[in-house]
Amino acid sequence: MAQLWGGRFTKETDRLVSDFNASIAFDRKFFAQDIEGSIAHVVMLAKQGILTKEEKDIILKGLTGIRKDVDEGKLRITDEYEDIHSFVEANLIERVGDVGKKLHTGRSRNDQVALDMKLYTRLEVLSVDGLLKELMQTLLRIMEENTETCMPGFTHMQKAQPVTLAHHTGAYFEMFKRDRSRLKDIYFRMNYCPLGAGALAGTTYPLDRNYTASLLGFEGPTLNSMDSVADRDYVIEFLAALSTIMMHLSRFCEEIIIWNSDEYRFVEIDDAYSTGSSIMPQKKNPDIAELIRGKTGRVYGALVAILTTMKGLPLAYNKDMQEDKELTFDAIDTAKGCLVLFEGMVRTMKFRKDVMERSAMRGFTNATDAADYLVGRGVPFRDAHGIIGRLVLYCIDKQCGIEDLSMEELKSISPVFEEDIYDAVSLKTCVEKRLTLGAPGPEAMRQVIAIEREYLEKDWQIERSI
Ligand code: ARG
Repeated sequence: MAQLWGGRFTKETDRLVSDFNASIAFDRKFFAQDIEGSIAHVVMLAKQGILTKEEKDIILKGLTGIRKDVDEGKLRITDEYEDIHSFVEANLIERVGDVGKKLHTGRSRNDQVALDMKLYTRLEVLSVDGLLKELMQTLLRIMEENTETCMPGFTHMQKAQPVTLAHHTGAYFEMFKRDRSRLKDIYFRMNYCPLGAGALAGTTYPLDRNYTASLLGFEGPTLNSMDSVADRDYVIEFLAALSTIMMHLSRFCEEIIIWNSDEYRFVEIDDAYSTGSSIMPQKKNPDIAELIRGKTGRVYGALVAILTTMKGLPLAYNKDMQEDKELTFDAIDTAKGCLVLFEGMVRTMKFRKDVMERSAMRGFTNATDAADYLVGRGVPFRDAHGIIGRLVLYCIDKQCGIEDLSMEELKSISPVFEEDIYDAVSLKTCVEKRLTLGAPGPEAMRQVIAIEREYLEKDWQIERSI
């Protein structure tokens, strides 16, 4: 195996050892970032007079040539190298000769890998943010179209009070908004450049770390070289944010699976997002929603694994940290795939508004409003609660709703009831009267939708030089 070391060794590395040690199979994923970091490093070395202009030009030509050849499929990244850093350096030397051996001046693989991982993660933070934004555009459209679509709201999975589809969807909009704000925090907290930290104690070369940091679009350089090579907090924070995103998607999927069942029939998932059964011809299964719910565990797993890997590591770099990559890459790809699929599933899903509305009318979702009606006529709330409780018991026995009772029946339970009770407990009134900010009343909802629309239009934009 081609490796960057060996001078102090008297024996070949055991084959099993080099296979176990190698990371090329997965760190090839940040090939582009490795080249990008090397270019910035070389430009800085030349500015500082550590490399001559000619040396810089030769190395840059070599690096961009390698990138072009890999991108065009003319050069393959193969497993004969220990890692992606070795692949790039070995190919550079092969291409440009001895000058290529100067690339690694004032650098260690420890700060190099810290940089590559950070560049890769930073890009993915933005990419996940973009996908969340797209999903939220779809959710906002559903909200705008459904401010009057009544549905039951639940607590304990029992019907509680009527809400609207706009309101229910809006709850998830808020969750995803917090997710985006978490990503933004992570971005700004992580955006400091570790390059120049060397193996752990900086270097004796007069590097300009501020310059490299600015070339790579960082806010500035990191301030402690040991922390720079040992820090994977940003990976953990990103995985925690991805876990929370997955948890939100999974909760929504759980609801969609329930709503899509024959018992509910609130929604119908599009054929393009459903699958069939090999034995039961009638089946149309919500596999995508189930898979997203299932993959949530996988993303949590990455978070817990990396937290556990990091917890016992003394300063500074330890090889254990190589374990951050596969899990992080997998978690990112998983979460991104889920966001794309979920958006498509929701965008194409049919909402059965009539079924939702009928369901909202059953199950005494208007009982609180009936109690409030009595309160409006001077009955203390606790007494009103008792009266309506008895009324509900009576209705259960008669198998009807409060609105189905005759005036005589109502009066026999409380003489306070008048003709206007029917309007007070109608579904329309129950929803429309919920006017506090954040409540499902269409008027209140429209106010919130305007705020959310403005939020989506005012995006956080990152100026990046790369
Ligand atoms: N493949 C290594 C990693 O992912 C790169 C850093 C190697 N550094 C070292 N001192 N062996 O962490």
